[in-house]
Amino acid sequence: MKIFLDTAELDEIKKYIELIDGVTTNPTLVMKSERNFEQVCKDIIKKVKGPVSVETVSESEEMMIKEAIEFAKWGKNVVVKIPMTHEGLKAVKELSKKGVKTNVTLVFSANQALLAAKAGATYVSPFVGRLDDQGMDGMQLVAEILDIFENYEFPTEVIVASVRSPEHVKAAALLGAHIATVPPQIMEKLFKHSRTDEGMRKFMEDWEKVSK
Ligand code: G3P
Repeated sequence: MKIFLDTAELDEIKKYIELIDGVTTNPTLVMKSERNFEQVCKDIIKKVKGPVSVETVSESEEMMIKEAIEFAKWGKNVVVKIPMTHEGLKAVKELSKKGVKTNVTLVFSANQALLAAKAGATYVSPFVGRLDDQGMDGMQLVAEILDIFENYEFPTEVIVASVRSPEHVKAAALLGAHIATVPPQIMEKLFKHSRTDEGMRKFMEDWEKVSK
């Protein structure tokens, strides 16, 4: 499973650069970075070898396509994030004809994912955490989407998004999701285990007692 970092913080990206396969951003994450949109996106695109998702903020098909074509000029690894709307799907269809990679975001149902794949989306992003927040099972949606894509051999890859815990990452891998996009604070937790820390402390203590 590929791991993307879900952030627009360049320092966090640099911290995990050797371990990640790509980056996803959204308007909220860019806002939190407190940096200029174009500048921060260009910095990330330059730093990361793998796919970098940059999100459109228009509502009409025409404007989304215009934004997407501009973003695609920023680097070969740009993936244009398009919201799961009727206008968005029309834009995805056109962009796929033009060879622009897309990530259909804000996916909350299997039918939305099916339509996005049929429109030619490179990726779909089901938001598992936000579904869990509503008392639903986000990972069940991921399982359904993976089944549908397998049934029809869609090349569209599933990015498990809105990841809130290491459990989400493990569940994504067990289901065979292509990608999980992980916020930095969860990335940190993937490394950590109290027994690892305890074991390390003991080895270091004993090492001090070894004659060298
Ligand atoms: O990048 C999209 C997604 O991961 C957002 O997550 O935590 O705002 O639901 P969250």
